[in-house]
Amino acid sequence: MAQCAAAAATSGDVNGDGKTKRKVAIITGITGQDGSYLAEFLLAKGMRRVILVFCNVLTVTRLNTEIDLGNAAHDDITIPYPTVQCVWQISFDLAEYTADVDGVGTLRLLDAVKTCGLTDTVRFYQASTSELYGKVQEIPQKETTPFYPRSPYGAAKLYAYWIVVNFREAYNLFAVNGILFNHESPRRGSNFVTRKISRSVAKIHLGQLQCFSLGNLDSKRDWGHAKDYVEAMWLMLQQEEPIDFVIATGEVHSVREFVEKAFKHVGKTIVWEGKNEEEVGRCQETGEIHVKVDPKYYRPTEVDFLQGDSSKALKIIGWKPRVTFEELVKEMVDADIELMRNNPNA
Ligand code: GDD
Repeated sequence: MAQCAAAAATSGDVNGDGKTKRKVAIITGITGQDGSYLAEFLLAKGMRRVILVFCNVLTVTRLNTEIDLGNAAHDDITIPYPTVQCVWQISFDLAEYTADVDGVGTLRLLDAVKTCGLTDTVRFYQASTSELYGKVQEIPQKETTPFYPRSPYGAAKLYAYWIVVNFREAYNLFAVNGILFNHESPRRGSNFVTRKISRSVAKIHLGQLQCFSLGNLDSKRDWGHAKDYVEAMWLMLQQEEPIDFVIATGEVHSVREFVEKAFKHVGKTIVWEGKNEEEVGRCQETGEIHVKVDPKYYRPTEVDFLQGDSSKALKIIGWKPRVTFEELVKEMVDADIELMRNNPNA
């Protein structure tokens, strides 16, 4: 679907050698980080053909591009990258569009499977989200926690979640929801908070920037690595029964902590001064202010705290995260230093 979420429809039975038997996958939302990691992952698993579908978040037009990847490495493939606007700006300002793509878009795909008579052969993965929990009703959040979305995006994803359940129950389609908590990487879009921080810290480290602004520093998220999460998508499609799973690390960190860790990695200690909109993050070593708060990044309705419990996934599909929070922050900052060093305007 749009906005960094990837959905895969595959026929993913496993051979004795651990490779998939039938070899076609369709991935939507290829311009986001998950689409590219998933394509690479599936190719490594022996999937012969991966069809990448673009969902440009700025236009309703879909550019459906079929690329036969063969055994080519992902780096050999040129994928046009559309301009990406702030997801949340789109979600709130273009609520109807969000509902159309993230909600009804899922129905359209499911309907296509049914109309083509493929309910017995296709396996359908829906990129569901911890945004469903929004104003959390229980800590930590697991598969049985009641949903309470807090944005047009969350509300659209709620529809997508239930329509997948409905097609599963009504037509016996192998369709699953992966309720993925936040997952990041050097490929994360630059409007998401983690990448915004890693890019800014890299620029500050290289002397290309002095200060950047953030919104709610106290928002807390359960951040994992996208590479680990695409493996969970695949595992969910290899099971005998279609089952929905929460995929999360179970660890929670604030935006503030992410900032501190990222700066620490380049040898800067951030100390916080002031309150609310007046708060700043100052470098203890140089006295320079590197972080400010700008209310324009606040959301009309905020999701303050997300923490997942993925023990069901561990028990049934044997999934657990590999990359730690510390490793994730370092990888993102290092990748951005490399990127900015070679191309300061990136
Ligand atoms: N984007 C952004 N920019 N977020 C900021 C900023 C800022 O300058 N300052 C603070 N934040 C806070 C947001 O208010 C939010 O509470 C938190 O940082 C995380 O924001 P994002 O990184 O934009 O991600 P998200 O949690 O809203 O949504 C992501 O995760 C979901 C999974 O739970 C997206 O990937 C969704 O598509 C996904 O479904």
